[in-house]
Amino acid sequence: MSMSMSMSSLQHHPDGRLRHLLTLQGMSRSELETLLSRAQALRPAALDGREALGSLQGRTVVNLFFEPSTRTRSSFQLAARRLGAEVLNFDVAHSSSRKGESLLDTYRNLEAMGADLFIVRVAESGALDQLARAARPQVALVNAGDGRAAHPTQGLLDMLTIRQHKGADFGGLKFLLVGDILHSRVARSDLHALRALGAGEIRVCAPPALLPQGHTLDGCHVHARFDEALEGVDVVMMLRLQRERMEEGLVSSLEDYHRDYGLNAQRLARAAPGAIVTHPGPINRGVEITNEVADGPASVILEQVSNGVAVRMAVLEHVLGAGPRAR
Ligand code: NCD
Repeated sequence: MSMSMSMSSLQHHPDGRLRHLLTLQGMSRSELETLLSRAQALRPAALDGREALGSLQGRTVVNLFFEPSTRTRSSFQLAARRLGAEVLNFDVAHSSSRKGESLLDTYRNLEAMGADLFIVRVAESGALDQLARAARPQVALVNAGDGRAAHPTQGLLDMLTIRQHKGADFGGLKFLLVGDILHSRVARSDLHALRALGAGEIRVCAPPALLPQGHTLDGCHVHARFDEALEGVDVVMMLRLQRERMEEGLVSSLEDYHRDYGLNAQRLARAAPGAIVTHPGPINRGVEITNEVADGPASVILEQVSNGVAVRMAVLEHVLGAGPRAR
């Protein structure tokens, strides 16, 4: 069985409803669009904390993050609170994980306290799979990033942001993903979503040492030269250079990287008029992107962050069966 099939059957109920959100791989266009439309409708409530919605009242959501996070963890917390859930932020640094307790044991203990949903970030690719196989039937899991494998809510919030600027029909658009694709779970989830949503053309540009092998880039046009890759693109999707996941020597120097793959305003002028620039954060300013671009008119980076709250509300509702259809 292929990885996408096993992951997909793991995250869906037998009747086809989404039970967990582990990956965007194998999700259909209509499933993605249902989540994106709901997120769009939730945007006003997402951005206005006063408008509390009660759909997750009485539910307990656990944030279980074994890797650092600023945006993802905070926005999941806000999303859960704005839907009325109780949120437990598991504190890894002061937990028995420090004494060697395994991920699975940690999970089982928190599950035994009556949590309804776990939002999990881990360094090991595929670790969510193991939890999904162990989860009690009524418990849902949401992947907040596992190693380099998947970061599905980031993929969704990227798609929502692009839709807001470029419309829901991606067929006429050219997309470019730039940088550390090898180590990027964001790139993988973006690629899954772009393909499912019918992206017109997907280009990638990276140093050869940061291009993944295998099927990750199926259907993409690989460009070695950044200037050439940028010609006429509508959406430039920048990635962080993930030095913490990197073996020594994959990138010769940050100066060389910036010279060859750093986005500056002069380069960006090669893109199509009205092109937008995304970045999942955290930004290495002056490495993959200059300040003038990150803070400039084409940047939608903070809109991505705002959309993160709405997307995460939509996902939490959906996997807990608390969305508008289920009520
Ligand atoms: C990303 C992640 O952790 O995968 N950050 C995020 O969630 N916004 C990207 C990154 O760390 O480069």
